[in-house]
Amino acid sequence: MTLSIRPANPARPDFVGEASGVDIRAGVSAAEAAAIEEGMDRYGVLVFRGQDIDDAQQVAFSRHFGPLELATGDIVQGQARRLSMEVNDISNLHQDGSVMARDDRKRLFSLGNMLWHSDSSFKATPAKFSLLSARVIPGQDGNTEFADMRAAWDALDPAMQAQVRDLVTEHSQIYSRGVLGFTDFTAEELAKWAPVPQRLVRRHPRTGRLSLFLSAHAGAIQGWPVPEARALLRDLTEHATQREFVHAHVWQPHDLVMWDNRVTMHRARRYDSTQVRDLHRTTVADMAPTLQQAA
Ligand code: OGA
Ligand code: MN
Repeated sequence: MTLSIRPANPARPDFVGEASGVDIRAGVSAAEAAAIEEGMDRYGVLVFRGQDIDDAQQVAFSRHFGPLELATGDIVQGQARRLSMEVNDISNLHQDGSVMARDDRKRLFSLGNMLWHSDSSFKATPAKFSLLSARVIPGQDGNTEFADMRAAWDALDPAMQAQVRDLVTEHSQIYSRGVLGFTDFTAEELAKWAPVPQRLVRRHPRTGRLSLFLSAHAGAIQGWPVPEARALLRDLTEHATQREFVHAHVWQPHDLVMWDNRVTMHRARRYDSTQVRDLHRTTVADMAPTLQQAA
């Protein structure tokens, strides 16, 4: 079978594609990887069903799209990690496979994923693609939602576009967790996750399209009073996450969903936290800090 991609929702033909005819476990050719990257240019998010892969296969597939980030944004580091440093642990599990208690620190930190965000926007060089593999999912709920930040930019009125076009924001995990009242950081974490600057509007290097670069990690705008900055960031986020720009992915076991963090935001939805939810994420790094990329 050859690779083909069709819109997940025919009413929105340029956002979220469903790919078929590819076996990620067997490995893909350079030509298939190039076709997948072209699909990412068009759709921003691609869904691959029925990919029963392990971490090594996921890492090998992900490397076709660039060098991988290390999971330095996870709150569990060192010997206590369940997965290797190339894999972000998007689960509610302890190292021994047991489900975390409601008040577990890692669980409370990971609830930040329920806020609309772009992965690793708190890193100086943020993420290009994220690839999330569903290993075990709860019987219901726990969808992941995606918002199209190109469509959100296109729909802003020209006066607002002109006002925000050249703004520079500051992103930190300390801000995003603080929104939920999680402030329990060590001195080492506070230093490691100091704010980094990001463009608010960016241009995709291959398609040339502009998009809003928003994230729950954004907590300031350079040169602006903080409350005014946060009010604007909230307004823009509200605009960008209207239902017309949003797609909800309903997980099946062995789904692999891949998204372009440069042109989308995403968020996790609630589920029964006594059930196992185990997803593994690999993350392809962007080329450079957004301020060093063409505007
Ligand atoms: C992520 C993430 C959302 C989810 O993996 O980066 O935000 O639904 N996941 O688990
Ligand atoms: Mn995420």
